[in-house]
Amino acid sequence: MPTVRDIRAKAGEAPITMLTAYDAPTAEIVDDADIDMILVGDSMGNAVLGYDSTLPVTVDEVASRTGAVSRGAEDALVIADLPFLSFGFDTKTAVEHAGRMVKEEGANAVKIESGSHTVELTETLSQIGIPVMAHLGLTPQHVNQSGYARQGTSQEAAEEMLELAREHEEAGAFSLVLEHVPANLAETITEELDIPTIGIGAGPHTDGQVLVITDAVGLGDWSPSFSKQFGNVRGEMKRAVSAYRDEVESGEFPADEHSHVEENLDDVY
Ligand code: KIV
Ligand code: NA
Repeated sequence: MPTVRDIRAKAGEAPITMLTAYDAPTAEIVDDADIDMILVGDSMGNAVLGYDSTLPVTVDEVASRTGAVSRGAEDALVIADLPFLSFGFDTKTAVEHAGRMVKEEGANAVKIESGSHTVELTETLSQIGIPVMAHLGLTPQHVNQSGYARQGTSQEAAEEMLELAREHEEAGAFSLVLEHVPANLAETITEELDIPTIGIGAGPHTDGQVLVITDAVGLGDWSPSFSKQFGNVRGEMKRAVSAYRDEVESGEFPADEHSHVEENLDDVY
């Protein structure tokens, strides 16, 4: 069974890899490729649920998807993202939601969009036995305050981020996502912390990288500038769907090999 100790041990030795996944077959593919961690991100809101932000994503949606991913993954560490309003106002509620992901859905850890309001929660969950991945920089659940702008661009904001990173490490976070921050700030935070940093839009100096799977494989119709398409799954799906339509319309599908004629039925009527 994968543990956060394996991830911490790899940091500094080799780059850590993480991708999101939201369903079992995708989790199988990611797991088979020896990706270290699979994040069941609330990015599912934009990536696969058709919302235009992560705010509407529910605990039930993350739970259902976390179960699917856990059943599809064998070796990768599965991390469930706590969605908007499932944490941050009272510890009991947050612990119940995080606990559900681990106890009922097979997650190995949770990720929490972090701030000064999540230090205590990080400590509580870590003590209980639920590893926490912290997340600083662009935190899309704050879209109504920050939009999707790069974070940590002023000296004051950069120092505040480093301080929050330290506080979460001290509280017991096993790792830290840095999203859409200057590469030199991510480098400093990576040097200053013992726990591994995982970057997205944060340059090459973090201990690991994460991308949203639909961006990475080219399934979505849009992706951020800091992402990269390593494939064209959308093009391949379009091709397959059109081929299916054409073959049904032309009568080519289903062919004899896809059909069965039961000779005994001659006398049925
Ligand atoms: O929800 C998500 O996929 C994330 C990653 C981009 C870090 O938070
Ligand atoms: Na997220």
